Amino acid sequence: MVDVEKVLDEAGLKNPRVREYVAHWAAITEPDRIEVVSAADDARLVQEALDAGELQPAGEGLDYSRSYHKDTARSEERTIVATNNPQDRGVYNNWRPASEMKPMLVERMRGASRGKTMYVIPYLMAPPGSPLEPFAAGVELTDTRTVVLHMIRMSRVGAEYVDALADPDTFVRAVHVTGDLPNLGQGTPDDQRYFVTVADERTILHYGSSYGGNALLGKIAHGLRQACYDGWASGGFLAEQFMLLGIIDKETGKRYHVCGGFPSASGKTNLAMTLAPDALGDRYRVEFYGDDIAWLWVNPDDGRVYGMNPEFGVFGVAKDTNELTNPTALDSIQPGSGAIFTNVAYNDQTEEVWWEGKTKEPPADLTGWRDWKGELISEREPGDTSPWAHPNSRFTTTLANVPNVAANFEDPAGVPIDAIIFGGRTSDREPLVRAIRDLAEGVYDGLTLGAEATFAAEGVDGQLRYDPMSMRPFMAYSEGEYAAHWLRIIGQATEQPIFAHVNWFQRDPEDGHFRWPGYRENLRALLWLCELKDGLVTGRETPVGVLPTQDELHLDGLEIDQADLDVILTIDTERWRQEMGFREAHLKQFDNLPEEIWEAHRRVAQALDDD
Ligand code: GDP
Ligand code: PGA
Ligand code: MN
Ligand code: MN
Repeated sequence: MVDVEKVLDEAGLKNPRVREYVAHWAAITEPDRIEVVSAADDARLVQEALDAGELQPAGEGLDYSRSYHKDTARSEERTIVATNNPQDRGVYNNWRPASEMKPMLVERMRGASRGKTMYVIPYLMAPPGSPLEPFAAGVELTDTRTVVLHMIRMSRVGAEYVDALADPDTFVRAVHVTGDLPNLGQGTPDDQRYFVTVADERTILHYGSSYGGNALLGKIAHGLRQACYDGWASGGFLAEQFMLLGIIDKETGKRYHVCGGFPSASGKTNLAMTLAPDALGDRYRVEFYGDDIAWLWVNPDDGRVYGMNPEFGVFGVAKDTNELTNPTALDSIQPGSGAIFTNVAYNDQTEEVWWEGKTKEPPADLTGWRDWKGELISEREPGDTSPWAHPNSRFTTTLANVPNVAANFEDPAGVPIDAIIFGGRTSDREPLVRAIRDLAEGVYDGLTLGAEATFAAEGVDGQLRYDPMSMRPFMAYSEGEYAAHWLRIIGQATEQPIFAHVNWFQRDPEDGHFRWPGYRENLRALLWLCELKDGLVTGRETPVGVLPTQDELHLDGLEIDQADLDVILTIDTERWRQEMGFREAHLKQFDNLPEEIWEAHRRVAQALDDD
């Protein structure tokens, strides 16, 4: 047995509640060694991981890792929110009683760290000094070194963050045990994995994965699921899967801040890292605050909604990242940045990485190239066209590496929010942008956000997989309460943000091309929205919101067919009427949905009928 007290003394970790927690779990998982880590340990841990073959070099200060081939994405079916109150059961949170889940996880974790090191990762999910800091501290215990390296990039890590707590008990207890990955029955009826947030006990127990989305407990489980619950239980804030960016109009000096949610793999990271289109000249600057999580609250001093990114880094999708689509992302993963690539293709002779869309064609010389499973590309069967990189392969880099990160990205005061946007992958019906000024209608729009079902067989034609506010995988309590909480929090603001729905993904059904060029051109839609909020443009009223007229959009230098532009600036009333039926069925699943939301739904439906 490790002498826990001695290890914690040597690490100078003083918080008595944290010490009890570490000792408690060490007795259950029985590690051979315990190590308390901080950001200062990064270089040593990287070297250890390289020596152990957990990482491979990918250029100066760049590294590569593969996760087990059945462990490459978040598992929504195995993710559970447990509490002691059955009323917390929602449609999407897979609610189970805490009394059932906790003993089950303890049994799975018992003795599971024998022969391994338990890393103790004290972290903070907020800029220090934030008004939401009381909800931001946590301690992850993990048995996997690459998880530590990712946590150091994605959150602020060090014992000082838990030793400074006003109440030593207010940290999230986050236990990660990888388990025996080849023997967990991933995706079979005998699946052993469980990813549980015991929300009312602020305890996270994840067993059966070492992939980022399941194993970086500060990010997804704490930053979203736990914080979603805490924001509601405290009555004080919202925690959402939102990107957050700033737009500066250098001519007028005006700054706007836009945040918003798109389901995973729908463009949040790309939008937050966008740059002003070259064709708009030097007038606008876009600044990055966050790409995946925003916590929102109302500042009583000025009555405005404020937002901040609790993360310290970016965990971005690699696929299609290139000089044209996202030069900012490429700049943030340059040699010397400390970036880690996961599950892309890797060349173990030249130590290069590649992913689909990095260059138009894959490298011509196949020597040394291995796909994300570690198999040699040169030994593939003829005609095997499967991707070299996993579609969910990622890069991990710190915010400070992002070239357009805002100067005040760590300001604990956060930034005032002008606009809240929602968007998903919808190939028809949803226009480029439609603005919504009414709070209940904005919340209603968020609740009916969806993206196309991925497998044709599973979906009804034209019907979306709804993903309320992009929080479906992170919803911690019942959706009716969630909607009421949104109305309450944003309703406190004396200056309301404008809402909008955006869509970069309409396609021509004939040949499938995207009607809108997307990526950095998306800024044009956001500029219009900010100008609408300021009364500089008026737009055109439709039953589902205000749309830009063509001459209001900044279209200088944009290459787009007039026919495509016409479609993305129009409302297809027939398709919208059909959608209203789907929405009604979707919303009916939620208990206690506030009457204001139903009123908004009926208003929109009526306006469409009258159209
Ligand atoms: P996130 O998971 O929401 O952060 O989404 P990402 O920004 O990582 O993007 C997911 C995928 O969508 C990537 O393959 C991007 O290249 C692609 N994507 C992002 N923005 C756009 C866009 O405006 N248009 C098109 N066509 N694709 C996009
Ligand atoms: P994503 O973030 O939204 O960029 O995919 C990671 C995740 O949601 O797992
Ligand atoms: Mn996400
Ligand atoms: Mn992202």
